[in-house]
Amino acid sequence: MSEIEERRLFNTYQRYGIKLVRGKGARVWDTLGKEYVDFMAGFGVGILGHGHPDVVKAIEDQLESIFICHGSIYNESRERFLEELFRVVPSHLSRAFMSNSGAEANELALKLARKYTGRKGFVAFTGAYHGKTAGALSVTYSQKYREGFEPLLGPVKFLKYGDSQALDGVDFNEAAAVIVEPIQGESGIIVPPDDFLPRLQEKAHAAGSLLIVDEVQSGMGRTGKWWAHQNWKIEPDVMTGGKGIGGGVPMGVTVATENVAQVLKVGEHSSTMGGNPLASAAGAATIRAVSGLLGEVEGKGREIMDGISKINSPLVREVRGRGLMIAVDLKVRFKDVLLQAMSNGLIPLYSGLTVIRFLPPYVINSADIRDAVEIFSRSIQEIEKKMSV
Ligand SMILES: Cc1ncc(COP(=O)(O)O)c(C=O)c1O
Repeated sequence: MSEIEERRLFNTYQRYGIKLVRGKGARVWDTLGKEYVDFMAGFGVGILGHGHPDVVKAIEDQLESIFICHGSIYNESRERFLEELFRVVPSHLSRAFMSNSGAEANELALKLARKYTGRKGFVAFTGAYHGKTAGALSVTYSQKYREGFEPLLGPVKFLKYGDSQALDGVDFNEAAAVIVEPIQGESGIIVPPDDFLPRLQEKAHAAGSLLIVDEVQSGMGRTGKWWAHQNWKIEPDVMTGGKGIGGGVPMGVTVATENVAQVLKVGEHSSTMGGNPLASAAGAATIRAVSGLLGEVEGKGREIMDGISKINSPLVREVRGRGLMIAVDLKVRFKDVLLQAMSNGLIPLYSGLTVIRFLPPYVINSADIRDAVEIFSRSIQEIEKKMSV
């Protein structure tokens, strides 16, 4: 509990009582010295865990040289980040805009689409989450988030996520863009059927709409590929990234094809902090470090899913995911299970009402996986017992 956070911050977050003071790898410690396995990792930000030595060194070195430099002045740290980024971004995407968050990256994606096509509307999907700034919120599905803030950007047509057949009956001609998560994160790790994204691209392009792929949660190696959409054969016109891309330092990125990027003229978009040297240094070190871990992501994910799948509990409906993007869909609300896991030393994440979600760091080792699976299994059994009392 934090008295000042409760009293002084806007009351916008659900909080869970613990106060963290230290982290190393996939482990964190609270003010009482209690250790936790951190499978929340800052809502998926900590892809390299806490205190990764390469990221720490890059930040320290940058602090020593220069860490304030606006985008209107060239900077070597930003140059190094761009070199690393375009080593791992699909080759048809050639230009980037650097910002500070996932929502901000999506704001620009929507602006680009309007400017490029001269159209106003968008197509998005049921369950979609693209952020809570006004533009990003317009294409975020949940009414709970939108209520009180409408009218937002529009018109937005929400189609059923993953329903490939339904795409045939839809007219995309009014849409500046279709925006889609290749795997939905906030709504509970939903992997679409294999023909969904290719058909969506075909429909969008046939109608002259852009395809925006939101890789804020699923990208940067989370599924074992640099970008989750590479699990299918598609080539988005615009791709957005965020969360772990800055190794824990705030960063968002919008990348686009040359043609699309060229529609923006000087002054039409900016971000005072975007592309700052500190985030750039952390981001470049993160991309290099993820390169060495990418091959391990799928195997580690499988080990966690296998372990969790062995839990024989009437409370578990389904275990699903791709790489280190994992959901345990429960037949009860997640909150009791989450609190029980936390009190036993595991910090999970959650989605919707019934999903426990894991977005662990890629640096997790076999002891982290063993402990997390053991704590989660025990927590489920304890809740099961409590419920049958
Ligand atoms: C797919 C996706 N897009 C956008 C966002 C928004 O990112 P941010 O919270 O950094 O603005 C999120 C955050 O969870 C996300 O999962």
